[in-house]
Amino acid sequence: MNTLLKKPDAESISLAAKLLREGNIVAIPTETVYGIAGDATNGEAIKKIFEAKGRPQDNPLIVHISDMDMLYEVVASVNDDALKLADAFWPGPLTIILPKGDKISPENCAGLDSVGVRMPSDPVAHAIIKESGIPLGAPSANLSGKPSPTSAEDVFADMDGRLPLIIDGGDCFCGVESTVVSLLEDIPVLLRPGYVTKEDMEEVLGKPVKVSSAILDKLKEGQTARSPGMKYKHYAPKADITILEGDIDSFIEYVNKNKADGVFALCFDGEESLINAPCISYGAQDDGAAQAHKLFSALRELDKQGAKTVYARCPKKDGVSLAVYNRLIRAASFNLVRL
Ligand code: TXA
Ligand code: MG
Repeated sequence: MNTLLKKPDAESISLAAKLLREGNIVAIPTETVYGIAGDATNGEAIKKIFEAKGRPQDNPLIVHISDMDMLYEVVASVNDDALKLADAFWPGPLTIILPKGDKISPENCAGLDSVGVRMPSDPVAHAIIKESGIPLGAPSANLSGKPSPTSAEDVFADMDGRLPLIIDGGDCFCGVESTVVSLLEDIPVLLRPGYVTKEDMEEVLGKPVKVSSAILDKLKEGQTARSPGMKYKHYAPKADITILEGDIDSFIEYVNKNKADGVFALCFDGEESLINAPCISYGAQDDGAAQAHKLFSALRELDKQGAKTVYARCPKKDGVSLAVYNRLIRAASFNLVRL
């Protein structure tokens, strides 16, 4: 298949909408990461997404909508908490899990009776959903297991020949995937941390949000994931990553002791000159949003530069940094050393 890479002008947005209405799949920019979109009401279109990504069949897709009318088309019911969160954070990087409506194909939700819904704020994503007039199922546009793509070039590297069209909307604003919160029960459960934080949602809801144990820790043998995507190896570049938790001095000492061919450091901005190894930086130490913005492109850059072993500085575990930690610990296959 010949993959076209197009700027988001009116003509290419119309082409994307036409392809989507005809049951084809298209890679689109969003404010979080790039997605591979398909008609969520058409099981055959959704199957093409799973095939292009090499995604396990039991991992459901998030449905992307352009306005509140579409929300009522894709879910069976809405509750007060959902309306409060939608009012505060939509359009934006928040996915809300609600009971699934009949229109959404079983393939999209991997057979579950719930559906994750989000209204993207990215103007190109919004225009494509609106012009196609259909709710779009869209996972991140990476090959399954690879870091999510935050630029059209990253999408092209994974998807060339696997889908007909990539819309190039430039670099993604957030750089990590949306926050996922389940509102299926009275107590909201955070299933995936993102740019909208647990603290942000608690303020709006006026009640605590439970953090799923799968966010920080590895699932235990036999434990089932509330969010199926949590159980897979994720975001991983080719190199072996170890997170070193501790201060910069002990980090430098550890890297010096373990220096070898192919050893790289994944460090915070400004630390490069202190570390005696090739470095890729991923944002300032105290800036979770900057780390989120740069993490996935830094992981891809490590591959491009041929890193074999990577020692990573450890992000914090609150606010947006919780999302960064959650992605990095998976990229590291839960390899963490406390210094
Ligand atoms: O920011 C994003 O959410 C991006 C862009 C493209 O919108 N999409 C994205 O999709 O990250 P994906 O498929 O890579 O991740 C979706 C996550 C998975 O962990 C999946 O298991 C979970 O959301 N999920 C989807 N539907 C669910 C449901 N009904 N119940 C529980 N988890 C669900
Ligand atoms: Mg993904």
